[in-house]
Amino acid sequence: MALHKTRIASLIGVALLAFGGTCATANASGDARPWMNPKLSPDQRAELVLKAMTQDEKFRLIRVDFGDTENGHVMAPGALGSAGYGPAIARLGLPAIQESDAGLGVAKPHKLGATALPSGLATAASFDPAVAYAGGAMIASEAHRRGFNVMLAGGVDLVRDPRNGRNFEYAGEDPLLAGLIAGNAIAGIQSQHLVSTIKHYALNDLETDRTTLSANIDRAAARESDLLAFEIAIATGKPGSVMCSYNRINAVYACEDDWLLNQVLKHDWHYPGFVMSDWGAVHSGAKSALAGLDQESAGETFDKEVYFDQPLRAAVASGEVPQSRIDDMAQRILRSLFAAGVMDHPATQSTIDFAADRKVAQRAEEAGAVLLRNQDALLPLSAAQSVAVIGGHADKGVLTGGGSSAVQSPQGNAVPGLAPTEWPGPRIYQPSAPLAAIQQRAHGTVSYASGEDIAAAAKLAAQAKVAVVFVEQWAAESFDVPHLALPGNQDALVEAVAKANPHTIVVLENNGPVAMPWLDRVGAVLEAWYPGAAGGEAIARLLYGEVDPSGRLPVTWPRDESQLPRPAIPGAGLAAIGLPPQGQPAQDVDYNIEGADVGYRWYQRKQLEPLFPFGYGLTYTHFDYSSFVPHVANGKVTASFTVTNRGARAGVDVPQLYVTLPGSNRVRRLAGWCRVSLKPGQSVHLTVNADPRLLVDFDGKSQRWQQPAGDYQLQLGHSATSFQGESKLTLAAAAWAADASPAGVPQPCVADRTL
Ligand code: BGC
Repeated sequence: MALHKTRIASLIGVALLAFGGTCATANASGDARPWMNPKLSPDQRAELVLKAMTQDEKFRLIRVDFGDTENGHVMAPGALGSAGYGPAIARLGLPAIQESDAGLGVAKPHKLGATALPSGLATAASFDPAVAYAGGAMIASEAHRRGFNVMLAGGVDLVRDPRNGRNFEYAGEDPLLAGLIAGNAIAGIQSQHLVSTIKHYALNDLETDRTTLSANIDRAAARESDLLAFEIAIATGKPGSVMCSYNRINAVYACEDDWLLNQVLKHDWHYPGFVMSDWGAVHSGAKSALAGLDQESAGETFDKEVYFDQPLRAAVASGEVPQSRIDDMAQRILRSLFAAGVMDHPATQSTIDFAADRKVAQRAEEAGAVLLRNQDALLPLSAAQSVAVIGGHADKGVLTGGGSSAVQSPQGNAVPGLAPTEWPGPRIYQPSAPLAAIQQRAHGTVSYASGEDIAAAAKLAAQAKVAVVFVEQWAAESFDVPHLALPGNQDALVEAVAKANPHTIVVLENNGPVAMPWLDRVGAVLEAWYPGAAGGEAIARLLYGEVDPSGRLPVTWPRDESQLPRPAIPGAGLAAIGLPPQGQPAQDVDYNIEGADVGYRWYQRKQLEPLFPFGYGLTYTHFDYSSFVPHVANGKVTASFTVTNRGARAGVDVPQLYVTLPGSNRVRRLAGWCRVSLKPGQSVHLTVNADPRLLVDFDGKSQRWQQPAGDYQLQLGHSATSFQGESKLTLAAAAWAADASPAGVPQPCVADRTL
């Protein structure tokens, strides 16, 4: 059974009275608080606090309570009605820990509302770290103005399966892209003086039976795929906390996995922050603490017991867990709070400029929507055309994914009452109606049909110059969708509309790739993901060419389930939305099938032709590459080339550098890219750096990253399967130890000059 936020918190009231109440009312001792000196380093400041702490205070810091009231949960007086709350330690001047979900905006309390970013996949599709940073800063500024100081964001689990119910929270299938996008989102969040998490560490790549499922994978393959995304994101964004996940990895629970937490994260990556558990992911006290878990989240509500209280105290008393470990846990938490500026810039309630924040969400959607098809330049639309708008509640708003990350607008849910209304619902729509935004732009007639009556919708479509059909797929945390088909009768709706009107445009609001049996019969398809707070406006602006579609797919789009490494997910589904789970959920998932060859690499290895490749996306213009020259200097690989806008409109291009390592049976890897805006006819000369972390393999035996000597193939791609520029470089062998990965954030692209 998937854990959710409705279990009764029988202990929460008692716990808060025992600890929170006392601490919150205790007087400051009057001593100077030397740790409040901002000139000291976060480590020095944490150490000073630690010296002043009692054992009870340390034990209070290493667990956080559920911060919500659902189903009669007793909420502590100071809690804000969100995911987590740890009472202030007033004696030491430590503020309450106030944790808010999640990566797409402030999820709770629903009734207050917040600005929703589009899906994480939309941000990833922008291939633009600046878009990710701006989105992170925007949602964190809202969180700070609501009084939160920890944001449970930074979703970076790789998309190994397009049916995973939480793909919309993540950043795609490629470790470099996902790592840089999530890392920049985290940096944006922490710029607002909140601690951000990165989650769900690791391999929580499916939701079905997520609390017990074992993700089985060779450790070296994990290092080169899912863990590499975390490694890059952590190096880039420096999140204060890492959230360990529900699932097991090679049979060991992630939150008690010494290899994952102590060896990889804290030793090899030198991670100085703290590991918090996911809600209900802790199964032991001493074992978890010794494996590297630093803070138990909402154990009184979601775990079998509060392991990081009495059981852990007993383990310290018996000598099973050394006191130094408890001190380390507290030190890490304090360090992250200081590093993010939580003490120096306390979160306080203040007003939010929702209009400005909505623009940030709009820009992210405009940068991340992907134009998948555009026959005979059907798009952009012209204002003179009459339009039939059909389906997808386009008269009311745009869809949002469900679960703990779901954000409701301050204006409320545009389509309330749709199933499921309970966890992992409610199903939320942002009040940004595409219909209204189209009406503002069209001079011709704009009509609307809900699509429930297919014949009526087709009739309406026949009367208009163009038909825009909105189709949707709701997905959420806690379940996976069992197949790629769009739910309900939407395929039949598109078929009927396309038959009635050859100028049919389909707009997808979805978790990710879906089957499109009607693809050849429609004129255009725009992948809008879950489009966020201003999704309606963004979609209309894209359709009318006020902004050029510039997103590129951060995931491979399969033709059907047979192309996936695991064609079925036993037990996937959710009865409440008409997809009752079929079969028994597996307790093991074999990720060794694809290993590190996730997404486009799997397709190349198996010589499969997807429907749309990774990195693919059309624009209203087209681009040409020339003068492709790779270089190697001091062991660093770069490639220079010229991009020219050959069309009649301005547009944005994303040239992608792929590298294939020497040896047989190798597949290409994305090693860098550029995102560049060009006027019609304009050219630019660019240099892209190949990230060194993509030129190496992990050798489990020697625990080293190794760059084999030999010929490296470099390809300049419009996508992962279409190239214009190809060359070879010979590299010498190189290697570094697992704990000596190159530091620093790569600069993936430099514009040398405009030609
Ligand atoms: C989710 C996390 C979330 C936490 C707190 C869990 O169910 O997996 O992503 O941050 O709940 O709401």
